[in-house]
Amino acid sequence: MRVVAPLDEMRALARDLRSQGRVVTLVPTMGALHAGHLSLMQRARESGGALAVSIFVNPTQFGPGEDFMRYPRRLERDLERLESVQPDVLFVPSVEEMYTPGFSTFVDPGALATQWEGASRPGHFRGVATVVLKLFNVINPEVAYFGQKDFQQVVVIRRMLADLNLAVRLVVCPTLREPDGLAISSRNGYLDLGDRQAALVLHESLQRVRNMFLEGETRADALLAAMREVISAETRASLDYAAIVDSVSLQPVLQAVPGNVALIAVRLGAVRLIDNVILGPRKATEADLIELAMQRSFDVRSR
Ligand code: PAJ
Repeated sequence: MRVVAPLDEMRALARDLRSQGRVVTLVPTMGALHAGHLSLMQRARESGGALAVSIFVNPTQFGPGEDFMRYPRRLERDLERLESVQPDVLFVPSVEEMYTPGFSTFVDPGALATQWEGASRPGHFRGVATVVLKLFNVINPEVAYFGQKDFQQVVVIRRMLADLNLAVRLVVCPTLREPDGLAISSRNGYLDLGDRQAALVLHESLQRVRNMFLEGETRADALLAAMREVISAETRASLDYAAIVDSVSLQPVLQAVPGNVALIAVRLGAVRLIDNVILGPRKATEADLIELAMQRSFDVRSR
């Protein structure tokens, strides 16, 4: 595995890989790698392409009061974890080179970025879309892997790819969970023991919605009431938002249909956790559900 920081070097390396006839794939991350990140990389590895992983804690996607400064930076440990995947290249650009003095051009994802996560974190998706486009421009991957865990992020990136005519194929991977159902996240490490236990309400409320939908309940207000009930039963947890949305527009629906997505964000003390579930038929695998949510959207590959 080559570890590369300078943008020019990364660009040249990706060009070399392409000239050897290899398909370049990218898994962008902010580091503090966990099993969820590694599952994206394994999936990319299985595709047989050359795998680039980026680690960059992107300052422009953090709000003023957020955890940019204390976001975990653990390059040594990340390097060890990457041994199981053996990427061809690890790209670790510096903030100074990614954001040179006078930097002023951003990608504005429009209305998709102002609701849900965007409402609680103004400017977050502008920062995400901008850095992802920058990474794409340096590495020029054919395929990029993102986690369903950050569903709104997937929708924003997908929209950007289509709107800006980028020829990058997006692969969305299922959410990896702890054995008790909590979605794996770098932020879980901030939870104390009590809050870690209380955090199970996110998964619980989503399972409740999923089961109600399977049993025939499609009224969004009934599904949302059930989600709220699960969260309010846990005194440590406070609900930020719960919603049943269309997977393209992220607008709330009145009647849920297969492919709609239940989104949830919950605060536990100072920690904010998100999770989601795609509604669909009982027999559907996670991959089927992702396909269902994504096929409701335009097909970015057939542009
Ligand atoms: P980060 O939070 O490091 O996540 C990197 C990728 O890992 C994202 O696509 C995210 O959805 C995925 N991921 C996180 N937890 C996961 C889990 N439990 N199971 C499966 N995949 C999971 O998301 C970002 O970084 C940044 O916004 C980034 C896209 C890198 C831009 O800065």
